Amino acid sequence: MTSSTSNTAGDARLMPAGPLARVGIIGGGQLGRMMTKKAKQLGCEVHVLDPYPQSPAGMVATYQTVGRFDDAEKIREVVEACDVTTYDIEHIDAEILATLEAEGHVIFPRPALLAIIQDKLLQKEHLVAHDIPTSPFVAVDEPTMADAEAFGFPLVQKARKGGYDGKGVSVIRSKDDIENILHCPSIFEKMVDIEMELAVMVARNAHGEIATYPVTEMEFDARANLLDLLLVPARISDSLADQARAMAADVVTAFDGVGIFGVEMFLNKAGELLINEVAPRPHNSGHYTLDACATCQFEQHIRAILGLPLGATKLWAPATMINLIGEPGSTGAAQIEGMRDALATPGATVHIYGKNECRPFRKMGHITVVDDSMDAALEKAAKLRDLVTFHGADKL
Ligand SMILES: Nc1ncnc2c1ncn2[C@@H]1O[C@H](COP(=O)(O)OP(=O)(O)O)[C@@H](O)[C@H]1O
Ligand SMILES: [Mg+2]
Repeated sequence: MTSSTSNTAGDARLMPAGPLARVGIIGGGQLGRMMTKKAKQLGCEVHVLDPYPQSPAGMVATYQTVGRFDDAEKIREVVEACDVTTYDIEHIDAEILATLEAEGHVIFPRPALLAIIQDKLLQKEHLVAHDIPTSPFVAVDEPTMADAEAFGFPLVQKARKGGYDGKGVSVIRSKDDIENILHCPSIFEKMVDIEMELAVMVARNAHGEIATYPVTEMEFDARANLLDLLLVPARISDSLADQARAMAADVVTAFDGVGIFGVEMFLNKAGELLINEVAPRPHNSGHYTLDACATCQFEQHIRAILGLPLGATKLWAPATMINLIGEPGSTGAAQIEGMRDALATPGATVHIYGKNECRPFRKMGHITVVDDSMDAALEKAAKLRDLVTFHGADKL
């Protein structure tokens, strides 16, 4: 292979017919899979690193290296084989990536940014240092109820590292919630009186060009703390939507981000926007862009990290999205029920991640429904949410 990073500068009129670039992805989950498909569509070769040989992304990539996200040798193998390396998960060893970057390898989003974002304390401190509104917090190394009481109830405790999909997040409303305390270095955050949870996808390339997507409204499944139903455009005023998009762009600029970012925020009952957290990668709340926007979040990410022009973020029509997650209490070979109903629904697009094993609440796929009106899209999505389910058969 002869491609070089000079071909990725974005201003060259001539590009190699193939590969356009060799893209490394640390993490072979569904985000990596959807990223891989778009990278290949643009003519890139893709090299994935994941501990599981049949990873969702590995199955569609050009190559997969099997290895853990803290295995310096395996990470090096991927980075050295590629023009640009990125990731689909934030829980990877940022120091290893920083060492490789210092040797001259291109890694986006930058390892220094990853080190801040993967630690919820450093992330919150960074937001505050850049005057970005966020819920007040304190750091607690060895959390106790006395610390919680001193901070004040109700509060939300968050493990500094390693959390995802609500794991590593605990609500403490009073002294009675003693069993909810997580015993790890954490932050205590003031509980926000939430009117609505919103998210904005933001793309920024190495030239500082920035593009924001329409605001998405997120409804969570209280059982699993997983994103349950998403709709876009969010049912808020145009001026609030503009404010949310501008704030999300400020967040990504404050982190000097290159790539796609999911900026989660709260609208509180007083009508104020507060930043919750930032994901340095494609985000569940941006999956609808695959079927409803001019350029999807995955292609946008590849464009951003290759220094190519960003695409239009226009939403073609109102869209809703539901996650397909493993039913509680069932583990085994993945079986889907209701696929025919989904395929028979006009405007619905089914995305299956190719995970062989179904586990309770595991993300197995998603469905987007696009329609002429939000009401029509919501009605179809609500029906499909009940009809389409993932189970685990006894044997894998
Ligand atoms: N300060 C807060 N006040 C109220 N609810 C919160 C607060 N922080 C988090 N939550 C709730 O917990 C969910 C998960 O928290 P988050 O920080 O986004 O962690 P994760 O990394 O698991 O996504 C949020 O989507 C929101 O519903
Ligand atoms: Mg979150």
